[in-house]
Amino acid sequence: MAFALVRSVPESFVDALVMGERPAIDVDRARTQHAEYRQVLEREGYEVRVVAADETHPDCPFIEDTAVVLDTLAVATRPGAAARRGEVAAVAAELERLKPIRIIEAPGTLDGGDVLRMGDTLYVGRSTRTNDAGIEQLAEFAATDGLRVIAVPVRGVLHLKSAVAQLDEATVLVAPRCVDMDLFSGYGIIEKVSGEEHLASVLRLGSGRLVTTTTAPRTRQLLQEHGYAIDVVDSSEFQAVDGGVTCLSILVED
Ligand code: GLY
Repeated sequence: MAFALVRSVPESFVDALVMGERPAIDVDRARTQHAEYRQVLEREGYEVRVVAADETHPDCPFIEDTAVVLDTLAVATRPGAAARRGEVAAVAAELERLKPIRIIEAPGTLDGGDVLRMGDTLYVGRSTRTNDAGIEQLAEFAATDGLRVIAVPVRGVLHLKSAVAQLDEATVLVAPRCVDMDLFSGYGIIEKVSGEEHLASVLRLGSGRLVTTTTAPRTRQLLQEHGYAIDVVDSSEFQAVDGGVTCLSILVED
């Protein structure tokens, strides 16, 4: 069975890292949104495993950043924000029940939100969080699974997956101002709707359905016009601190 790891929302979520001005966060609302997100995953056939919240790590619900699951192994990351490194151990402990764990070591940094898999290729954002040493280490681990790594400089957003989303095996949704589109020229490209670039995050489920957000209605319409089946969630409290829908889970397909 496919499963999804998620991590509960701590009271300290009000102090989550943010690129811009600090917003007012409603933790109860975030918890309601998190529960609805989990329900979508369960409805789509995932066994959802919940890692307990860690009050000392406000960003811990953004579990995607702590690990990258490959085919035969999982990689425990070393998040670029030093304050987030303590989030990794609890997630690695869950994943090591499934796959051998490899570890990104200093000076490497890697956030899972910078890793986008398309077939046998991992596109890895070179961002404010992920550096070349982290990308090189990931490339060595990935090679054991026959996967290649392509580095993608990222501009203006936190992570690569804030700028590029997989829609299907052959198509990506891209914010043109944030990455070099030529790097994705082998795929069909749908450009993000102007004005929704920062709002439109998309999570592709194993079934092929897409999860997107209430805050990007024109993007949702565009994707529906292209024939995609979509589940919509309200993730506004997470979005307020730079989190997209991919950030809230680690999916392990069977
Ligand atoms: N608040 C998400 C992050 O900074 O990693």
